[in-house]
Amino acid sequence: MYFKKQLIVTVSVLTVIALSVAATSPQQQEPPKLVNLKVFPKNIPYRVLDHEMDVWSASLGVRCNFCHARNDQTGKMDFASDAKPEKTAARHMFLMTAKINKKFFQAKKDTLGMVLATGVNCNTCHHGVSHPEVKIPEEHHGPGGPPPGGPGAPPPGK
Ligand code: HEC
Ligand code: HEC
Repeated sequence: MYFKKQLIVTVSVLTVIALSVAATSPQQQEPPKLVNLKVFPKNIPYRVLDHEMDVWSASLGVRCNFCHARNDQTGKMDFASDAKPEKTAARHMFLMTAKINKKFFQAKKDTLGMVLATGVNCNTCHHGVSHPEVKIPEEHHGPGGPPPGGPGAPPPGK
């Protein structure tokens, strides 16, 4: 009699455990739909995009909300929204980066035939900062400082 009672208790405890495990274990959830892709392939797997977003964030030293807006009503991030200009800037940067790689790094060698293709990515320029300043090395500033018109300006007399 005692053993039978214990067996029933044991079985019911196991059932409760089994049910709660089933309830808390991750369901085979559909990943969120990607609805506003303009530069990534439309059929990019969610985990690939998510990884890319982590790499961008780290390269720029920012969090998701640097580029992505929050929905004021729901209080949740609205990743598909294009409300923030930084998101548009990032798309332009992505296209620029792809173009640089295609034009100058696609071959096994660079355009001068010297270097093996490694290409560039966001971190090549950003190095963990969102707004890399265009600088010329200190020692080349000379007595007059940087060239008038900034580093991109043509040399004087041109
Ligand atoms: C430097 C800017 C930037 C950062 C930082 C960033 N994203 Fe993005 N994200 C973008 C851009 C640009 C797109 C759109 C890509 C396209 O048009 O193909 C995008 C698209 C997405 C999408 C797809 C939305 C849809 O349905 O179209 C998701 C989801 C997303 N990002 C999540 C994240 C998460 C999570 C983080 C933080 C870990 C993050 N992003 C950080 C720029 C950024
Ligand atoms: C060839 C160098 C280079 C590469 C590669 C590059 N960036 Fe940039 N990025 C810059 C510079 C320089 C600026 C600042 C431009 C300025 O002076 O306003 C900038 C600005 C930005 C901004 C605007 C920041 C702001 O404060 O509004 C975003 C967003 C951005 N980059 C995202 C990216 C992402 C994402 C990638 C990779 C897909 C990338 N960049 C690759 C050089 C680069």
